[in-house]
Amino acid sequence: MKGRNTVRKIQEKVDNGEKLVMVTAYDYPSAYLAEQAGVDMILVGDSLGNVILGYDTTIPVTMEDMLHHTRAVSRAVNGPMVIADMPYGSYHVSVEQAVTNAMRLIQEGGAHAVKLEGSHIAPLVKEMSIRGIPVMSHLGLEPQNASLWNGYRTCGRDEDTAWALVEAAQDMEEAGAFAVLIECVAAEAARLITEKIDIPTIGIGSGVDCNGQVLVWHDILGIGNSHTPKFAKQYANIGAQIESALREYAKEVRSGAFPDEEHSVKMEENEAKRLY
Ligand code: KIV
Repeated sequence: MKGRNTVRKIQEKVDNGEKLVMVTAYDYPSAYLAEQAGVDMILVGDSLGNVILGYDTTIPVTMEDMLHHTRAVSRAVNGPMVIADMPYGSYHVSVEQAVTNAMRLIQEGGAHAVKLEGSHIAPLVKEMSIRGIPVMSHLGLEPQNASLWNGYRTCGRDEDTAWALVEAAQDMEEAGAFAVLIECVAAEAARLITEKIDIPTIGIGSGVDCNGQVLVWHDILGIGNSHTPKFAKQYANIGAQIESALREYAKEVRSGAFPDEEHSVKMEENEAKRLY
C-alpha cells in the first residue's frame, strides 16, 4: 500500500501538472512489465473480450472473466492503481447489483477502483461513491452501448453534443467519480471537458488536452489480429516477433534441431550404462 497510487495521489499528480499514464493489461506478466515501465494506472478493460477472448464486442464479457483477469493483474502490481471495468449486465439491474459486483472486483479481484460506461448513470455513481467505491466514469464512445445502439463513431463533433458531454462529466464529478475516461471525443470537446471539471480526464482518441492517456496493450505493442483503431499509436511490432520465434521453433522441432544436447538432461554415465 505504501507507494501505491491512490485516488488522492492521482489527483495530486494532475494538480502538479503531470500527465497520467494508463495502459490496459489482462494478465500477470503484462501487469508486471507495465509497473516496471512506470505507468500510473492499469486498466483491466472489458476490451479483453476482443483482444484476449476473441469476441467481436465486449458484450459477452462476464463478471467471472473480469475477476479472473483482475486477480492476475493485481497479483503482479504494487505501485500502479488497478482499475477494473464493470462488464455489461453487471451494473444495469439495480444499485444493489452494481455495488455488490463493484465490491467483488475490489475484494476478490484486488482492484482499487472500477470503471463504468454511461452518461446517464450519475445517480448510480453517487450511490457507489457514498459506499466508498472509487469510480472512474467512461464517457464519449461507450463500447458496450456502441455495439448495441450507435455504432463506433467519434462523439462531441458539434456544439450541442460537446456541451452534452461537458454536462455529463460535471454530473459524474458531482456524483463522486474520481476521474473521467473520454473515448473517441473530438479534441476540442475533450479540452472543454478537461477545463470544466476538476477531476482528471483520461483520453483515448480524444486529443492532446486530457490530463492523461490510455491505450490498449495489444494496440501499443502490435499483438493479435483484432482491429486497431486509427487513433492508437503502435510503439512496437511484438506480434511479428512472436510469430517469427514460433516459426523457428516449429522448424527446429520438425528438423530435429531442437531439443539438442544443451537442452537435454542426462543421467550419470554409470546409471545410463545399466539401461542399455
Ligand atoms: O476496455 C477498455 O480497454 C477500455 C478502453 C477505453 C481503454 O475501456
